[in-house]
Amino acid sequence: MFKKLSTILTILSLFKATQGYVCDSNTCKPPNCMCASPLPPGGIDPKDAPQFVILSYDDAVNDSTFGILQSMYKGLAHSNGCPVVATHFVQNIYTNYHQVQQLHAQGDEIALHTFNHSKGASLKEIQSGKTVLSTFAGIPESEIKGFRAPFLYYDNNLLQNVQDLGLLYDSSAPTVRQDASWPYTLDNGISDDSDCNANGICGTLTPHNGLWEIPLYSTFYSPTDPHSMDLDYDSNLLNVLKENFNFRYNGNRQPMAIAVHAIHCNEPEDKLKMYREFIKWCIGQKDVYFVTYSQLIEYMKNPVKASELAGHPAIDCSKFNTYKVKSDAEICDGIDNTGNGMIDDGLVESCGIGNTYFSTCFGCPTSEPSIDNPTPQRNGNRITIPAQGCSEGTWDPLTSSCVSTSGSTYLESISPEVITTDENKNNVGGPNSSSSSGALSSHLPTSIFTISLITLFINSLIHFM
Ligand SMILES: *[C@@H]1O[C@H](CO)[C@@H](O)[C@H](O)[C@H]1NC(C)=O
Ligand SMILES: *[C@@H]1O[C@H](CO)[C@@H](O)[C@H](O)[C@H]1NC(C)=O
Ligand SMILES: *[C@@H]1O[C@H](CO)[C@@H](O)[C@H](O)[C@H]1NC(C)=O
Ligand SMILES: [Zn+2]
Repeated sequence: MFKKLSTILTILSLFKATQGYVCDSNTCKPPNCMCASPLPPGGIDPKDAPQFVILSYDDAVNDSTFGILQSMYKGLAHSNGCPVVATHFVQNIYTNYHQVQQLHAQGDEIALHTFNHSKGASLKEIQSGKTVLSTFAGIPESEIKGFRAPFLYYDNNLLQNVQDLGLLYDSSAPTVRQDASWPYTLDNGISDDSDCNANGICGTLTPHNGLWEIPLYSTFYSPTDPHSMDLDYDSNLLNVLKENFNFRYNGNRQPMAIAVHAIHCNEPEDKLKMYREFIKWCIGQKDVYFVTYSQLIEYMKNPVKASELAGHPAIDCSKFNTYKVKSDAEICDGIDNTGNGMIDDGLVESCGIGNTYFSTCFGCPTSEPSIDNPTPQRNGNRITIPAQGCSEGTWDPLTSSCVSTSGSTYLESISPEVITTDENKNNVGGPNSSSSSGALSSHLPTSIFTISLITLFINSLIHFM
């Protein structure tokens, strides 16, 4: 279910796309405006900046994907005790909302990918997707902040829809630059886009003031072979990932992205194991944090040195712990509150209507949710989570109230595998320092000309559904 685009960019179009970007950092200032730059925000020296890693999954969350993505990172935690978290760009069709609720409850971010995985979706379609996620997965509307375009196809209209909906960020623009920009706002249009030619918007993107772009950072198999999503398996994949990490870690510390479709992550099973091994290896390095996309923007708005990051909202996970309410009676909140090993046992309803199947804590709809009617009448008396969520504790859709932890937090029976940072490692070197395979770091494409030549060799940018 994917479309493979063969994109060969001309020197001219890339030159235009990159050259067309002009931003004056004297007038464009955080927190509401940020110029694209390969350097860390706030004038922070790269070696003092935190290294963020952003893990994202696209499309439906359901029985075909949930187990796979969970086995990539669930149960792993940083040395500060905060879990490894991911961001999910969720389409509505085929999605099981109770599984989405569980991901959110473990600290992941839920973002939008249109209701029906549509190219150039209308404002209404994006809005309906948001409403349905709030209604049936219990994601507070105020926490739904991001968007990724299906097929990575975006244009001015689509970004305007994203902005009109009041979302915080888009993450649809792939970049084939190794020394890519940190996230930036679209006040001056797109920088770094490898694909604007294919999308027909080179140099024509109008400003979208204050809307953040988190570039879709590519992974490079070699300096001339970037992949924006879904890596192919080979026995060297773990080293490839480590080299890509090191390029950033020893360079300008741009965030590293692992952007995948879960459905492809276990083909073969060894790939899945490598991803998990890579994630464990990353959090063993000093100053490395897996954060959600909106946490990354929290950092961009208020950048500090890694040594001053403690307590910063970008890495704060205390909120996730307030969700984990211990209770004698189960609450339908995506968490095993009683500690009997079963999440929301006895409280989840399985709905099947028309072609739509999902389970939910919020009552089965009496007709299929659709773009035109995202919130059909529901059976029972379950109450939708308020737009602002709970300031503390967890939402109980049966009693229509926020149940507070009142100090007693239920920690999961299987305690997370905390990876301790080796504080002495301030430079990780290569995946294996003695190896000579660190070809990436020695071939920085620094000039437009070099980048243009490189793009001539790119014959496949893969765009999955
Ligand atoms: C999960 O969603 C995908 C689309 O993203 C679909 O192809 C697949 O059939 C779904 N699996 C289940 C079990 O519903
Ligand atoms: C989703 O899109 C497909 C293909 O365009 C269409 O056939 C289907 O009716 C749409 N489904 C919904 C729920 O809008
Ligand atoms: C490099 O890898 C080899 C084989 O795994 C290992 O024996 C060696 O100790 C490693 N070197 C470093 C510096 O990590
Ligand atoms: Zn998609």
